[in-house]
Amino acid sequence: MSADTYSSEPVRELYEWFTDLMAHTHGGHLHGGYWAGPDKPKTVTEAGDRLTDVVVERCRLLPGARVLDVGSGNGKATIHVAARHRVRVSGVTISEYQVRLASELAAERGLGGTVDFTVADMRDVPFADGTFDAAYAIESVSHIPDRTLAFAEIGRVLRPGGRVAVTDFVLRRPIADKAVADRLSANSANFENGPILLQEEYEAVVRAAGLEVVEFTDIGEAVRPSFAIVAANMRQARAIVGNRMGPDEFGDLVNTLEGFGAIPEIGYAIVVARKPAAQ
Ligand SMILES: C[S@@+](CC[C@H](N)C(=O)[O-])C[C@H]1O[C@@H](n2cnc3c(N)ncnc32)[C@H](O)[C@@H]1O
Repeated sequence: MSADTYSSEPVRELYEWFTDLMAHTHGGHLHGGYWAGPDKPKTVTEAGDRLTDVVVERCRLLPGARVLDVGSGNGKATIHVAARHRVRVSGVTISEYQVRLASELAAERGLGGTVDFTVADMRDVPFADGTFDAAYAIESVSHIPDRTLAFAEIGRVLRPGGRVAVTDFVLRRPIADKAVADRLSANSANFENGPILLQEEYEAVVRAAGLEVVEFTDIGEAVRPSFAIVAANMRQARAIVGNRMGPDEFGDLVNTLEGFGAIPEIGYAIVVARKPAAQ
């Protein structure tokens, strides 16, 4: 789909119903977990926090920094980052429901003064040029078919020299088997994801958006255990979707997600980019 015709409305609609199911099955998070390290996480919640940490440490945040959370979901990661790094974080998401959840969570935690949440499309965020010292985007730019538009907008609101750390699904090598390619397409359709890019394509997108590529690291094998765990949790939690889906449709959705997570050609990259310093 071209940039001109892409509408974020289906993604907004997806998260109206999927947010609660996702949070319930991902230990409160709206992203997968990082299951590696010498002291392996024991719970989905711990693994999800660790993923946030592994990504956001790449932003090199200093206390007091202004940070943008691109596609901030229910605010769990945003609030974690603000408290851990003593920074001010602004979250944007396409979902009004998520802004409400995130604002309530921030108020509950007494962090209403250090985080704020706005409904906005990441391709057009309501902030002036150079507002932020850093940005991060966990499992959110994957929804945008033309990632250049997301990276260019992030670059606009970063100060010169500012960094952005992003996670996204990536293709390690082309998929030859049609059945596997079909499984991938079905999952992308279910979750409104854009195309999955090879590393060289991804880096070209970042550069086309006017940013420098600092790092591209595939942490896919550390994230992969999440898929089977989350799928098992989902099978226990169908009641959350109510009568929006019958058992067969729901079963297919979960099987497709689990199958996607088992495709060896699919990786999960942390991509770090920097806005060039002013000349
Ligand atoms: C899988 S969730 C991840 C949420 C959060 N980053 C986290 O890790 O918990 C994807 C997020 O991207 C947001 N998103 C998707 N498309 C968007 C768009 N065009 N503009 C803003 N947010 C978008 C969704 O609303 C949702 O909050």
